[in-house]
Amino acid sequence: MFISQALNEAATKAELYSNLRAQLRSLLAEERDLIANAANLSALLYHLIPDLNWAGFYFYKNDELVLGPFQGQPACVRIAIGKGVCGTAAEQRQTIIVDNVHDFPGHIACDSASNSEIVVPILKDEQLIGVLDIDSPSVGRFDEEDAKGLNGLIETFVGSINV
Ligand code: SME
Repeated sequence: MFISQALNEAATKAELYSNLRAQLRSLLAEERDLIANAANLSALLYHLIPDLNWAGFYFYKNDELVLGPFQGQPACVRIAIGKGVCGTAAEQRQTIIVDNVHDFPGHIACDSASNSEIVVPILKDEQLIGVLDIDSPSVGRFDEEDAKGLNGLIETFVGSINV
């Protein structure tokens, strides 16, 4: 599968996410399978957003989060709603940006390389589907522009799947 490496050289974050969204639309256009599309989105993010060490999904099943497709080191499989950054974002149904994971009470450490994190809840028709979790080795790696851009990508992803 061809993905454009030129995205790494995008001048601004807005440009990066706009390019990523266009690429995601074409990547998901012919497919509606949840796992396949989550797998391709995690690969797109991991390879084209600079300075990441983990990018992937947790899905909401039987009142907890369960690990889905991801790129990076092996990760913890189950996260209770309300626990860690992922469980907190799922409970609050809000994007959470953590500048320094070591300062987040209850942060769940899966990869010791992670220093900052962003988690975006995934909702379809007001139902919680899961969360997108992205980690970086750099402190303060994520900001509101990342939140906006990633929420846009999740909107495209949610529109692409049958659940
Ligand atoms: N750090 C997350 C756990 C998942 S890993 O980062 C992949 C959390 O606190 O919820």
